[in-house]
Amino acid sequence: MPTRRAFLASASGTALAVPNILAASKGGKPLKIGFYTDLHMRAEWQAPDAWQQAAEWINRQGVDFLICGGDAITDGFDASARSLEPRWEAYFSGHKRLRNDVYMAMGNHDIVGAQPTDGSDPEKDPRRVFREKFHLDRTYYSFDAVGHHVMVLDPFEIGWEGKAFRGWIGEEQQEWIRADLAGVSASTPVLIVCHMPFFSTYRQFTRGALEPMSNRYIVENNLAVLKLFARHKVAAILSGHLHVNEFIQVNGITHICGGAICAKWWRGPWFGTQEGFGVVTIDGGQVGWEYVDYEWEARRPPDK
Ligand SMILES: [Fe+2]
Repeated sequence: MPTRRAFLASASGTALAVPNILAASKGGKPLKIGFYTDLHMRAEWQAPDAWQQAAEWINRQGVDFLICGGDAITDGFDASARSLEPRWEAYFSGHKRLRNDVYMAMGNHDIVGAQPTDGSDPEKDPRRVFREKFHLDRTYYSFDAVGHHVMVLDPFEIGWEGKAFRGWIGEEQQEWIRADLAGVSASTPVLIVCHMPFFSTYRQFTRGALEPMSNRYIVENNLAVLKLFARHKVAAILSGHLHVNEFIQVNGITHICGGAICAKWWRGPWFGTQEGFGVVTIDGGQVGWEYVDYEWEARRPPDK
């Protein structure tokens, strides 16, 4: 198990293997995970202060480990890697205060330099910076924790039909999912982490009952991907992206959209969801969820 120091050590050319943590049984104690997502970190509007405040609240929860659901920084997609350094610095100013190991999922805003608007060349691999920042071999990976198998997915097809991206888990990653699950017993609860949700009522409760979803919001090939897990016990899918606090149970799977550290992109609550993070407990297959408001008051001017 790496120390936090090891995890934060600067990139040395060799990627840190994703460790199997907490493999030993803890004698029936429920798994307790801190899940924070969608920080959209930047230097403005005291966002770094908010994140450091959130980190203190997260540290008080007594969790086994932390998962970040993505969008650690804001607007990486159309910016050059060099111009984003202050945003990464703002992100790590809170991250380095966290006292648990953190497992990162990539959000669409963490994709760097895919379509830069400042005239610089697009990155050949817009996932590179994220991998290097967090010492990952890949943006999808898995690990074992307290009798559970956690699979972190990357739901982006970048540049689909000339657009920025769509939510889509491609064949190569599906192949990895099959291979990874081949080594997991059918009785082991599986936890999926994916920046974009597989299901959500977001459009229905914000716009109306008949509003369709879009592949900018959810994973378009959700059913095909879920089929890969048919012989396994998926306990929960943890997502972000929509910035709302949502808890849905369908066919025994709990779908959680974990609100956002930045709520309405630092402007205050977003459709009733405050700046916050979640605590997930999994006990004998039962999934519990608590959303914690870390008491930030928005500082972003209304005209910005
Ligand atoms: Fe997102």
